[in-house]
Amino acid sequence: MSVLIKNGRIVTAVDDYQADVFVSGDTVAVIGRNLAIEADQVIDAAGKLVIPGGVDPHTHLEMPFGGTTTSDTFETGTRAAAFGGTTCIVDFAIQTKGTSTLEALETWHGKAAGRTAIDYAFHMVITDMPDERVPEMRRLADEGVTSYKLFMAYPGVLLSDDGTIFRAMRKAGEDGTLVCMHAENGIVIDELVKIALAQGHIEPKYHALTRPTRLEAEGAHRALAIAEVARAPVYIVHLSCYDALQELRMAQARGVMAHAETCPQYLLLDVDCYDEPGFDGAKYVLTPPLREKWNQDELWGGLRTSALDVISTDHCPFCIREQKELGRDDFSQIPNGGPGVENRMSLIYHHGVSGGNITLNRFVELTSTSPAKIFGLFPRKGTIAVGSDADIVIFDPNQEETISRHNARTHHMNIDYSAYEGFKVKGYTETVLSRGKIIVDKGEYLGRPGDGSFVKRGPYGGLYSATRDAARRDILAGGPVLGSPGARG
Ligand code: URP
Ligand code: ZN
Ligand code: ZN
Repeated sequence: MSVLIKNGRIVTAVDDYQADVFVSGDTVAVIGRNLAIEADQVIDAAGKLVIPGGVDPHTHLEMPFGGTTTSDTFETGTRAAAFGGTTCIVDFAIQTKGTSTLEALETWHGKAAGRTAIDYAFHMVITDMPDERVPEMRRLADEGVTSYKLFMAYPGVLLSDDGTIFRAMRKAGEDGTLVCMHAENGIVIDELVKIALAQGHIEPKYHALTRPTRLEAEGAHRALAIAEVARAPVYIVHLSCYDALQELRMAQARGVMAHAETCPQYLLLDVDCYDEPGFDGAKYVLTPPLREKWNQDELWGGLRTSALDVISTDHCPFCIREQKELGRDDFSQIPNGGPGVENRMSLIYHHGVSGGNITLNRFVELTSTSPAKIFGLFPRKGTIAVGSDADIVIFDPNQEETISRHNARTHHMNIDYSAYEGFKVKGYTETVLSRGKIIVDKGEYLGRPGDGSFVKRGPYGGLYSATRDAARRDILAGGPVLGSPGARG
C-alpha cells in the first residue's frame, strides 16, 4: 500500500518547506519536490500543513479510579485521538499495591491489544517498590515500558513515600529510564479536605480551594530535589501554575535533568469554571485543579522559553451522569479527571500559534517531537523523515469549527460533556495517516479497531540545551549519592 501526499507545506519541529511525501507501507519512503511516483492513493494537500501526528504522552483509558472507570475505552479513546490529529498515546498501566508491575502490564496489554485505532505505549504507575521489587523496573524497560509514574497525592491509594520515590529514581537513573511525578502534597491536601467538609463545604469548587498552588509547588520542589540527589532525570506531569513553574526553572538552572508538561486545560480554562451553575463545576474536577487565570500567561511563557517541554492532555474522562455525580454531596468523591484527547491539536494551534504565543515549529515540537524524544519514541514518531513511521496529519489551518459535544466533527470521545463547549477554533485535522494507512479523512473514520499496535519504547532521550547538556554529563559521570552536594558540587 502506498500514498503520495502532494503540494503540502511540511512542518516539523525545525523545518518548514513545500514538498511531496511518498509513503510506502508503514513508513515515509521519499520526500521531495514534484515527485512523479505511482501510488495507490494520492492526496492533494495544497494549502494544508503536513505535520507529524500528535504524540500525547498522558492519557487514561479504561482506568479504574475513584470508584469508577474512565469512560473512554482503548477503542473509543484512540479513535477520538485520531480524529483530533493524535497518532500515538502513552497511557498508564497501574500496579496493584503488593503485586508485580509485570502483572499490571499484562492486564493493560489485555485491555488494549487489538482494539486501538492508533499506536500506543504504556508508562507504569508504581504504587509500591520495596527493594526486592526494584529489579522489575529493568524488566519493564526490556518490555518497552521505559517510564514510570509515581504519585505524591492520593494517600492510601496511589501515594508513594519519599523513600520509594528515591529508590525508583535511582534505578531509573541507572537504567536510562524516566520517573514521571504527580507533584502535589496529598497529605496536607487531605487535611484541607477534612476541614472543608467539616465546615459543610460540599460543592465542586472546594476541590480547587483545597489544592492550593503552594502544595503543587512543594511537591515539585521535593520531586526535583530527590531527582537531583538520585542523579536521575524527572518529568513533572500536568504542571498547572506559576508557583510550580518557578520551582522547575530553579532546578533546571542548577542543572537538574528536569522536564515538565502542561495541558490545554491549564492554558485555556480557569478557576471561574467551578462557578458554573448547579453541579456543572464538577466537569472541571481534575487534578491539579484549574488555577487563577493569570497563571496562563506564565505557562505560555514557560512553553516559549523551553522550561516546559510538552503539552499533553491528561485525558481522563468521566461522564457527569453516574460518574461525576458520585460526588454530588461531597466534592471529594467526584472522580478526578477531564476529557481532551480529541481537542489538543486544534486548541493549541488556535490559541498557541494563531494567538501569538508559540511558533508553528514549536507547536509541532510541544505536541509531537518533544514527547517522542523524551519518551523514547523518536525518530520513529515525532517527525516526518525518511524511515520514520508514516504517522502524518494533514491539517487545514483555515477550517473553523466550534468545539461542542453536539458537534459530530469535534466530539468522538465517549463522554457526555465537552470541557471546551463553545470554543471556536480555526485549524482542524482533515486527514490522518497511521503507519501509512489513511484512518481519518474529512470527518470520516476509515480505520478499524486493531489498526494500532503496542510500541516498545527506547530509553529516555531527554532534550538539552548546550549548557544543560554539560550539566547532564557531569551528573551522569556520577559520584556516590551519599553526601552528594547536588548538581553544582
Ligand atoms: O485529574 C486527573 N488528572 N486524574 C487523572 C489522574 C492523574 O493524576 O493524572
Ligand atoms: Zn497525576
Ligand atoms: Zn493523569
